[in-house]
Amino acid sequence: MDNIFSASWIKPARQRKDTAIDFTKHFEARPFPKKAELQISCLGVYNCFINGKNVTSSVLNPGWTDYNNRIQYQTYDVTELIEKENTVKVGVGIGWRFHKWYDLSSKIISHGTLALIASLKLTYEDGEEINIYTDGSWKASENNVRYNNMYNGETVDFTFREKEGTPARVIPYTKDTLIPHEGAPITENEVIRGKKLIKTPEGDTVIDFCQELTGYPVFYVKGKKGDKIKLRHFEMLTKDGNVYTENLRSAKQEINVICDGKVHFVKPLYTFYGFRYIAVEGMEITSPDEICAVVVHSEMKRTGHFNCSDDTINQLYNNIIWGQKGNFLDVPTDCPQRDERLGWTGDAQVFCKVASYNFNVEQFFRKWLGDLRVMQKNSGSIPSFVPTKSDDHGGSSAWADVVTVLPWQMYLTYGNREILEENYLLMKKWVDFMRSWALKKKPDEGVSTDPYLFEGHWHFGDWLALDLPDKEAVGGATDKDIIGSAFFYYSACLLIKASQVLGKDCKYYKNLAKNIKKSFIRKYIDANGRMICNTQTAAVLALHFGLYDKKEPLAQQLTELVNSAGHLTTGFVGTPYLLHVLSDIGESGLSYKLLTRKEFPSWCYPVTQGATTMWERWNGYKPDGTFATPEMNSFNHYAYGAVGDWMYENMLGIKQKEGSAGFTDIVFSPETDRYFSFAEGSIENRFGKVYSRWEFTENGCEYTFKVPENTNAEARINGKTYKLNTGINKIVL
Ligand code: BGC
Repeated sequence: MDNIFSASWIKPARQRKDTAIDFTKHFEARPFPKKAELQISCLGVYNCFINGKNVTSSVLNPGWTDYNNRIQYQTYDVTELIEKENTVKVGVGIGWRFHKWYDLSSKIISHGTLALIASLKLTYEDGEEINIYTDGSWKASENNVRYNNMYNGETVDFTFREKEGTPARVIPYTKDTLIPHEGAPITENEVIRGKKLIKTPEGDTVIDFCQELTGYPVFYVKGKKGDKIKLRHFEMLTKDGNVYTENLRSAKQEINVICDGKVHFVKPLYTFYGFRYIAVEGMEITSPDEICAVVVHSEMKRTGHFNCSDDTINQLYNNIIWGQKGNFLDVPTDCPQRDERLGWTGDAQVFCKVASYNFNVEQFFRKWLGDLRVMQKNSGSIPSFVPTKSDDHGGSSAWADVVTVLPWQMYLTYGNREILEENYLLMKKWVDFMRSWALKKKPDEGVSTDPYLFEGHWHFGDWLALDLPDKEAVGGATDKDIIGSAFFYYSACLLIKASQVLGKDCKYYKNLAKNIKKSFIRKYIDANGRMICNTQTAAVLALHFGLYDKKEPLAQQLTELVNSAGHLTTGFVGTPYLLHVLSDIGESGLSYKLLTRKEFPSWCYPVTQGATTMWERWNGYKPDGTFATPEMNSFNHYAYGAVGDWMYENMLGIKQKEGSAGFTDIVFSPETDRYFSFAEGSIENRFGKVYSRWEFTENGCEYTFKVPENTNAEARINGKTYKLNTGINKIVL
């Protein structure tokens, strides 16, 4: 058993609300141990220094899990830091610990308790072993972070003089929930200097980083004793060029500093901010680079690249990348700025495919799938966001289906069947939940009696679709029962596929899927073979999930709907599949038309408005310069960035052969379009880089495909198949 289990949880004897705590321990050590290993976790988030040196290169530890069930601890090799006289100092702030939507209170720890657990093991050449554990000999004191809150930010008071700490109190808090770190550590990944200094018409001094990002600023302050400095972080300027913070809802996103007359380096320690701009008060700024922004996200290796002849599309791709960077912080969040920042299941469901092409997210998602497993209800239902404290019964289609879609996608991208094994029960219980719901006949409540349709359940629907007259309405026009039953079928099919990979019997689910499809057709397809619900999303789902084998009438319905609207009208549910489906039905030209459209609504409209990340809404900032409702209008929400997977798979044509996984068998089938003179890009996997390029030249269209070692590959272009070799292949047509 790891050493940390011999340590005790400690908390300060007294703790003022909202302040951060330093836990300190002095000890002498015989120089020099052969090895020194620290294991540490906390209720809150910590930073840790031994003899003034930072122990960890990651931040916001121990990360975010459902703390009632599991709390990660980290292990660090600190051999190099140990001296004869030693001081371990651990700062603990609130972090996700008592988050608006998440709570961890019990008889032992009240709402505000910050607590620490740590063990330090010194091993000597002669075999001696010294263990230092958190216990009553540690001291606890308030530190100069007088206020800290995940959403509101931090207040640092440099005039605050730390008092000598008082002995920490041991608390009998459970250690059963401690688990070794599973996720990808959150790290500081790049530093962006402030780029523009703006004086707004209302008189605010604003620094523009020219990039929406997630992280925190770093800067030096020097002010007279008692001077107050305030930084406000926000995403957008109004059309008149003034500070716009309404869409942050209650999240203040501030840093407040109280000066003591000396120069200090400021860096927030216990939270992060989602912002492009910072408004500065109380400090004179002469150059924008007096403040730098540190970009933080979970460590993930960049694996995908894309580039083409059109700058707007390149910027769109860039925005997708930044949407991912901004929202992968131990948990895949909906947004990094307003008072939410939650692991919304639906958002991750739609984005996980492109996420896995852009970056290696295997470890990141494996950890979050662990969170999903512990949060799955006994019924098999899945909460709408994870971790959660809410009693939300969850179970919304397309949100809860993350538990089938995500493991399957991770298997497809990384070829690792363990991820399916780990999550098989999670997948199965969710499908079983839908089946048992479908079996509950509730005719009195107007719910269908069909035992194969997932109807009458509460759903988010085609979130933020534009097919209702009210363009700010959230649920979209697609019948929620249709979405429910379509995803019931889809999840059952993914469960069957997973069963086949794992060699498990799936007769029952095959039969189930067959019956869902039959019932779906009977109820939702009319005599002409079209969806009775006349929306883009309804047709997209039926086509994409293979719910009706006679594709033509559905294909016609979809093209008619797109052509008559002249643009997409889909929301979170339909958007990820829309271009894939259009391409599948031979309407690649229409896919390109939608992709390259610049007017609202479209993927490129935000780009024309200067967007540097994906927006939550198609109409977040309207052509007339007004904003959509501040109630829900984030400018860093990755969901619509799912279009990136079409760019990799269809535009570049990097696809896997049906039935294969982990890029062992590649089919290059790029869809070219004269709107572009070239497109190129790659996805790196365990075998190497899969690269694709096409370019219109005077010789025709020149294709270049690079095939890594140990990979089978072919190209399928204009109905012809070409066998490809390892290395570079060129085809001119
Ligand atoms: C979030 C979404 C989420 C939704 C639920 C919102 O507040 O930001 O992205 O999926 O609620 O429908």
